[in-house]
Amino acid sequence: MSVVELQTVNFRNLDNSKTLLHPELNFLIGDNGSGKSSILESLFYLAHGKSFRTSKSDSLIKNSFDDFIISVKTKDDSQLGIQRSNSGDVKIKINGVKTSKLSDLAKNIAVQIVTPESFKLFSGGPKERRKFVDLGLFHVEHCFSNEWKSFQKVYKHRNACLRNKNNIDQIDYWTAEFCRLSEVIASLRKTYVARLTNELIIWLSIMLPNLVDNITLQYLQGWNSKKELSDILKENRDREIEKGYSIFGAHKFDIRFQIDKSSIENTLSRGQQKLFLLALTFAQSKLIEKVKRIKPILLIDDIGAELDHSSRNAMFQATQLLNSQTIISAIDRVALEPLIPDDNNYNMFHVEHGQINAMIE
Ligand SMILES: Nc1ncnc2c1ncn2[C@@H]1O[C@H](COP(=O)(O)OP(=O)(O)OP(=O)(O)O)[C@@H](O)[C@H]1O
Ligand SMILES: [Mg+2]
Repeated sequence: MSVVELQTVNFRNLDNSKTLLHPELNFLIGDNGSGKSSILESLFYLAHGKSFRTSKSDSLIKNSFDDFIISVKTKDDSQLGIQRSNSGDVKIKINGVKTSKLSDLAKNIAVQIVTPESFKLFSGGPKERRKFVDLGLFHVEHCFSNEWKSFQKVYKHRNACLRNKNNIDQIDYWTAEFCRLSEVIASLRKTYVARLTNELIIWLSIMLPNLVDNITLQYLQGWNSKKELSDILKENRDREIEKGYSIFGAHKFDIRFQIDKSSIENTLSRGQQKLFLLALTFAQSKLIEKVKRIKPILLIDDIGAELDHSSRNAMFQATQLLNSQTIISAIDRVALEPLIPDDNNYNMFHVEHGQINAMIE
């Protein structure tokens, strides 16, 4: 699917006017602080009900206003909108019909993003990697969101029991539920990682052809997979009570990206890491497309300085093959050079103080 019209009201520093996007390829150029990331953030928010750069949705509302609205028209004439007030109230409209469910929106739009912060997937803690896998699952497995929410609730109750030793009699109840949900989530993630790995090989063979055979994805489900979680928790009961929190379970999931058994972060150059991140995002997009039958919109924030001419060429080939609506931001035109097609089949925008102006090329 493609978004052909985007309008935000009181979102970050963005002007409230309407922007007509190209159904295939769009470029945003502008100085630091002009609003490029905010434009991409608005589309991401519409698809996920949250930002990719803050968990504080209040900071998305333009200073001194009470709410923001993001609305789009898609190529096939659907209208999607979300409004969020500073009291936390969320209203969603799909073709004029109100709903309160984010999952209804996610049925109609999918968005994938690569930003300079995506490198945290390698350098950050397991939470970053779990977030990446779970965002893919959010689109691909419609039950995942609810299972994960239930798990988090049980995890909190169980931790409270472990911390507050008076509640120790309740712990067996929460532990049984904790094990059940951990197994459900581990199984969903396992299937997802296997499918992602198969897709990734295709995209790595375009972007990093010399390294594709040496790259592997390994994941840890959060406890020793050769044992039952319930047995592990029985064995470690005293240790968990002493620590006051759950040591094993679905919250400890991690995925490792490796090349010849050492980490990607310690082996690949910054440019190669960026290509890997792009390949991973393309793989995730393709998977979402296969399962949901919706082509995700691909957002690439700040294509940046890491990619040399031939790497940008490889990326260009991959975007052509992916054939999804793509929006790429950069500080200036030079950074975009090999990505701009000769056929003029794209839109270029200049972003300045929150104003998005179409450029005549
Ligand atoms: N809630 C808000 N209300 C008004 N302005 C805001 C709000 N939140 C952020 N801003 C401002 O919006 C501007 C746009 O930020 P944004 O991150 O989108 O810029 P950018 O073009 O991506 O810059 P860079 O090239 O540095 O990444 C910044 O100047 C920021 O201070
Ligand atoms: Mg930015």
